[in-house]
Amino acid sequence: VTEPDVRDPHAATRAFFGPRARTWDERFPDDAAAFAAAVAALGLRTGDTALDVGCGTGRALPALRAAVGTSGTVVGLDVTPEMVEIARGRGPAVLADAAALPFATSTMHAVLAAGLLHHLADPIGGLRELARVTRPAGRLALFHPIGRAALAARRGHELSADDIRDPANLPDALAATGWRSLAIDDGAHRYLALARRGDGRASGDVRFDGAPARR
Ligand SMILES: C[S@@+](CC[C@H](N)C(=O)[O-])C[C@H]1O[C@@H](n2cnc3c(N)ncnc32)[C@H](O)[C@@H]1O
Repeated sequence: VTEPDVRDPHAATRAFFGPRARTWDERFPDDAAAFAAAVAALGLRTGDTALDVGCGTGRALPALRAAVGTSGTVVGLDVTPEMVEIARGRGPAVLADAAALPFATSTMHAVLAAGLLHHLADPIGGLRELARVTRPAGRLALFHPIGRAALAARRGHELSADDIRDPANLPDALAATGWRSLAIDDGAHRYLALARRGDGRASGDVRFDGAPARR
C-alpha cells in the first residue's frame, strides 16, 4: 500500500504522468476525431467560456477554441507540471487541482474532463467542484477516446461494478453533485457521458450532435 505524500498529495499522479507527458501525443495519435465529437457534444457557442480539466497535453484545446471562437475563452488545467507545459503550446493552461479549481462560481459554459474522473481521489467531490464553476444549464462531458473495459485492460485491471463511470452508477453520482445526466455512451471504442448543470428547469432534447444546450 502506497501512503499518500502529505507534502504533495498529487505526488503519485505527477510521478505517473510527468514522465509520460513528452511522448503522450505520439502514443495516442488517432484520437482527434473522437475529441472533436466530444467537444461538439458540449454544444458550445461563439463567445462561450470552456474548461478542459485534467487537460494533459491539451489535446482538446484546439477543438474547444474552434467551438468558442476568438471572442470566447478556453482554459486547460492539470495537476502535472510537465503536462501543463506542453498544453501551453496549444492554449492557456494552469497548474492546479481539479478538486480546488481556481475559478469563480458559475463561470464556465462547459467543462470537458477527458480521462480524469477515475484518477481523482474523491470523484464525487470532483464532480461537485466542476458543478460549482459551471453556469446553470452548462454542460459537462466525461470522456475518453477508448472504451472503459479497454482502458482498464491497458492499465492492467478489470472493471469493477462500483466504477463511478458505469451507467448504473453515474446518474446518481451526477444528481448528487449538481448535475443532471443527459446521455451516456459506454461503448467499446469510446466513453462519453454528458450532463447538464442543474438549474431547476427541464432539460432540452439530448443528442450527441452538438446541439446547443438550452440556456
Ligand atoms: C489520462 S490523462 C488524460 C489527459 C488528457 N485529458 C487527454 O485525454 O489526453 C489524465 C490527466 O489528469 C491529470 N490529473 C490527475 N489528477 C488530477 C487532479 N486532481 N487535478 C487535475 N488534473 C489531474 C493528470 O495529470 C493527467 O494529465
